Amino acid sequence: MSKKILVLGGAGYIGSHTYVELLESGYDPAIVDDFSNAEHKVIERLKALTQRDVRFYEGDCNDAAFMEKVIGTEGDVHAVIHFAAFKAVGESVEKPLKYYENNIGSLLVLLNKMTAHQIPHLVFSSSCTVYGEPDKLPVTESTPRKPAESPYGNTKQICEDIIADCVRSKAAIKAIALRYFNPMGAHPSGLIGELPIGAPNNLVPFVTQVAAGVREKLTVFGNDYPTPDGTCVRDYIHVVDLAKAHVKALEHLSHLNESNHYDIINIGTGEGNSVMEVIKTFEKVSGQPLNYVIGPKRDGDVETVYANADKAKQVIGWTSELTLEDGLRDAWRWQQSLKEEDSQ
Ligand code: UD1
Repeated sequence: MSKKILVLGGAGYIGSHTYVELLESGYDPAIVDDFSNAEHKVIERLKALTQRDVRFYEGDCNDAAFMEKVIGTEGDVHAVIHFAAFKAVGESVEKPLKYYENNIGSLLVLLNKMTAHQIPHLVFSSSCTVYGEPDKLPVTESTPRKPAESPYGNTKQICEDIIADCVRSKAAIKAIALRYFNPMGAHPSGLIGELPIGAPNNLVPFVTQVAAGVREKLTVFGNDYPTPDGTCVRDYIHVVDLAKAHVKALEHLSHLNESNHYDIINIGTGEGNSVMEVIKTFEKVSGQPLNYVIGPKRDGDVETVYANADKAKQVIGWTSELTLEDGLRDAWRWQQSLKEEDSQ
C-alpha cells in the first residue's frame, strides 16, 4: 500500500508540483487547501497531468475541527508537507495579524493533530528570507538568521522555532524545514505553474506577464547595487527540482531510526543570477525582447543572496538539475498556455 501524504496548500504553486512528484515516487498524496490563493481548476489540471483522480479536502488548515475530520477520513497518514501559508511580503506589513494568525495558527493546529494522531513526519516550507542580508556568501544553514524584515519573514522564523521546540520537548515528530531560495519555472507539461492573483510580486511571473502583453513593462528595482551589473542577485530554483527535494526529505525522515528529529536544509542551486541575467536569459529562450525600465530600489530588498546547497546533497541526496534557462522556458510555456485558455 502506498504511503499517505497530506499536502497542505497542495493546490498552490509549489504544493501542486510536489503533489505530482509524490505520486511519481509511489506515494499516495491528498491535497488540503482552502483555495484562498489557488484556483479550483488546478485540481482538474492535476487530474489531466497525472491521469488519476485527485483526492482533496477544501478547508482552512487553521480550523482544528476541519483538520481533525481530514485526518480521521484519511486514516493512516505517513507524513504531512505543510505549504499552506500566506506569502505576500508587502501585504504582511499592512496586515501583520492576518499573517501571524494564519501562518503560525495553522502550524500549531497541525503539530497538535500530528501528536494526537501519531503522524511521525513533517516537511515544512521555510524561506531564505530568514537570512536577511547575509554577512557572508553563499549562505549555509549555520549562517545566522537576521531579524525579519517583514511579518511574513518573521512567521517563517517563528514557525521554525516552534517546530524545533516541539522536537526538543521529545514529541514523536521527525521534521525538516526546507529553506527555499527563489522558486521559479513551471511543470514542463505546461499544465501547472504559478497563478499569481493580481499583479505578481515576484520577478519571473512579472517577466512572463510582460512578455505576454498582460503588463506593459517590467521595472527593474535598482541598478546601482554593488553587484557585477548593479542589479540584485538571487538563487533561482526550478519548482520541479524544489518539489523533488520534498520527496527526498520525506525519504530521509522515513529512514531515520530515532523517533524525534529536526533539521534545516537550504534548497537552492548554489548559484546567483542578477535581475539583468534573468531578463537576458528570458529574451534568449522566448526569442523576443522584453520591455523593461530601470526604477528605484524596492524597500527591504536584499542585494545578494544565494545558497550553499551542500547539506541537501549530503543529508537528503538532493541537488538541483534544471537550469535558469529551463525554468524560464517552462515559465514562458506556462504563461502562453494561460493565454490560450483565456482566449478560448
Ligand atoms: C521575495 C520575498 C521573500 C520571499 C520570496 C519568495 C521580498 C522583499 N522578499 O524574495 O521574502 O521568500 O520572494 O519567492 O519581497 N525584481 C524586480 N522587479 C520586479 C520584481 C522583482 O527588479 O518587478 C527583482 C527584485 O528586486 C529582486 C529579484 O527581482 O532582486 C527577485 O525578486 P522577487 O521575485 O520578489 O524575490 P525576492 O525579493 O528575492
